[in-house]
Amino acid sequence: MEQDNTFYLTTPIFYPNAKLHLGHAYVMTLADTLARAKRGAGVKTYFLAGSDENTQKMVDAASKAGKEPLEFLKAIVENFTNLYKELDIAFDQFIRTTDDQKHWPGASEIWKRLAQAGDLYKKEYEGLYCVGHEMFISEKDLVNGKCPDHDTPPERIKEENYFFRLSRFGGAIKAKIESGELKVVPESRKNEILAFIDRGLEDVSFSRPKKRGWPEGLGVPVPGDDSQVMYVWCDALANYISALGFGTDDDALYKEFWPANVHIIGKDILRFHAAIWPAMLISAGLPLPKTIFAHGIITSGGRKMSKSLGNVIDPQELIEKYGTDAVRYYLLRHVSPFEDGDLTRESFHDAYTANLANGLGNLVARTMTLAEEHLPHPVELTDEDEKLDAAFVEKIENFRFNEAMDLVFAMIGAADGIMTERAPYKGIKSGDAVERETARKDIEELVRRLAKISAHLAPALPRTSAAISSAVRKNHKPENLFPRIG
Ligand code: MSP
Repeated sequence: MEQDNTFYLTTPIFYPNAKLHLGHAYVMTLADTLARAKRGAGVKTYFLAGSDENTQKMVDAASKAGKEPLEFLKAIVENFTNLYKELDIAFDQFIRTTDDQKHWPGASEIWKRLAQAGDLYKKEYEGLYCVGHEMFISEKDLVNGKCPDHDTPPERIKEENYFFRLSRFGGAIKAKIESGELKVVPESRKNEILAFIDRGLEDVSFSRPKKRGWPEGLGVPVPGDDSQVMYVWCDALANYISALGFGTDDDALYKEFWPANVHIIGKDILRFHAAIWPAMLISAGLPLPKTIFAHGIITSGGRKMSKSLGNVIDPQELIEKYGTDAVRYYLLRHVSPFEDGDLTRESFHDAYTANLANGLGNLVARTMTLAEEHLPHPVELTDEDEKLDAAFVEKIENFRFNEAMDLVFAMIGAADGIMTERAPYKGIKSGDAVERETARKDIEELVRRLAKISAHLAPALPRTSAAISSAVRKNHKPENLFPRIG
């Protein structure tokens, strides 16, 4: 990734129809780690989070819960932000698409530009709408009459909509992706979107008539046509610029941070981000994001962890039992960022015990016990002690979070090796002054290594990193970082 002075990172704005699950915690953890790494490197960083609220599925969920949509949203959004607090997700702004002050002006402005460019037209349309996807799907996608991803039958809808001329933009988007002006990572996703474009892009429905029963105040009104609201994906994608004040007088953030450096998304929403969104931006005469990073999907028992399928693991359950950093650790190290990964309570528990309780936690406890007892004062650290390895930085920059964590755990393993092979805990009690001095130096060496490990853990496991760093600075054994859990 090129070195810019600023770094703008966005995350998918989630549908607030139910509590967030580990799949959502996953993308937020990757994003937060990247944002912290950038801030740590002194880059001015803006990290956006939010919720995608003008949706049929939210209206359905609210009505099922017997609540008014806005009241229902309030509770769910609180759940989102509470989870982010518990997970130490340090975003700069949380944008809500029902926010008519913050979000609607930007969404309206981009709509007007599409209209001005002649890329919107009205037509009568009949199709199959999948509420799970919040998009029209085609007959040939169905299995036994149902959407195979959500296991629900689509709704047949006949209505007059505005359409966006996506079909015009295939060539332009392809050229941007192929030239690397718009990077799609990993390579497999780049090939996937190029193949999708090669099959021919079709125009997409971009608005919905306000239906009877559709809650007032929900949905961004189509500029100049009161009878329609914007299609939720058109409205949602605009969040990446509306949040920065695009389309308002207060657009300093937009000027400073757009184009985004990275949109982090899940691979299942690649087409919206790597086809529809770039087409909207080209049509509106706006710069394209630099990189789209599409991660894999977390499965549980082999199927996508999903609210609709009911096989979710609640991140709050794991945080309560194992702690924030244990959850961040698992997601960063044991799930491949580019492929799907299965997570079960057992695999989580085993990784925690082996690598955090017995691994890192044990090393810190043993080292700092020795240091507190046998070093007269804290080890004086140099810049070199806390300098990040170039290989580590490179891995994070390229979204190889698991490999970056492997590098840190190799450092932990090497320190463990020193503890075992040189056994300073024995030497320090020796009657021989030379042996005692060697052991003292080994302890000092181990403390320096902890400082290095702590520096590398700062973006990924901020609490653990701070606890280790404080222990080293005070020459004091910290509270048990990762207690054994039965
Ligand atoms: N609202 C849209 C995004 C609009 S962005 C302009 C949406 N919301 S979502 O709540 O369904 O999902 C949001 C993100 O969560 C997607 O990137 C999706 O890939 C991710 N995940 C949902 N389930 C997931 C897993 N089981 N595993 C990993 N990520 C998952 O789509």
